[in-house]
Amino acid sequence: MAELEYGGEKIIGPGRADDDVLRLEHISKRFGATQALRDVNVHLRKGEVLALLGDNGAGKSTLIKILSGFHKPDGGTMWLKGGAYTPKNVDDARRQGIDTVFQDLALVDELSVFHNLFLHRERLYSPLPFLNNRVMRREARKRLDEIGINIPSLDVPVARLSGGQRQAIAVARAIASESEIILLDEPLAAMGAKEGAMILDLIARLKAETSISMILILHNYAHVFASCDRVSLIQNGVVSFDRPTAETSPDELNEIVVEEYRRARAAAQGQLTS
Ligand SMILES: Nc1ncnc2c1ncn2[C@@H]1O[C@H](COP(=O)(O)OP(=O)(O)OP(=O)(O)O)[C@@H](O)[C@H]1O
Ligand SMILES: [Mg+2]
Repeated sequence: MAELEYGGEKIIGPGRADDDVLRLEHISKRFGATQALRDVNVHLRKGEVLALLGDNGAGKSTLIKILSGFHKPDGGTMWLKGGAYTPKNVDDARRQGIDTVFQDLALVDELSVFHNLFLHRERLYSPLPFLNNRVMRREARKRLDEIGINIPSLDVPVARLSGGQRQAIAVARAIASESEIILLDEPLAAMGAKEGAMILDLIARLKAETSISMILILHNYAHVFASCDRVSLIQNGVVSFDRPTAETSPDELNEIVVEEYRRARAAAQGQLTS
């Protein structure tokens, strides 16, 4: 794969494609003294599952929060299906077809399992504006059964559930949203092996049966190579590597990450001794 110029940054990878549903160019974001994102270029094709990788603090969640309408970028342009994309907030992004499972989940602790599953999309008694709890409870049970997630009671506040169960509900909610694009920030965090395997199965099923596009932040390379079509690696506020998973390997990714660590350590030691 040739090295190519993409949005001004030299990256190794396939670059953008005509069937991109989402495209981000030159995205930057600073928090006080921290330049979280410098010049990020990312694209996502219809039906594609993209893994977003990078060290802790690399800016992955910041990028997801910009896409989800939670943060505004300082600079750069976003395109959704060919049109300019400037979400006003998370609800606005949802309306435009982008749903997110945030790293910190954003469930409402005091609400029940089924109310959380229908957050922002409550079922009402038509034409009266009352919540139709019976229908939501029934549909919630159906959705969780389909996914294979076992939550004993749908009526308990989610504050009483385990981390893995909460994660499962957040993922189930995003998947049930029927959005065209789903962003999942570490969807397997806090999950046991069995629950994690269920979520990966679900992602594989969505990929096979729908044209939903997904961006997953993952740390485990086995999950990346099992579930994703392509990887984008964020280092020092830019995407430094972008390649189909079929054309790279855990070893290659490891090498790039370890090399960056060595360079940073050598630079720090240089500073110490100079
Ligand atoms: N709201 C904020 N205010 C100040 N600094 C922030 C804020 N959000 C993120 N940062 C900083 O921006 C940088 C990128 O953070 P981010 O959460 O995007 O990293 P990440 O790649 O998701 O890391 P992790 O793998 O640990 O989740 C970090 O240095 C972080 O401290
Ligand atoms: Mg994060």
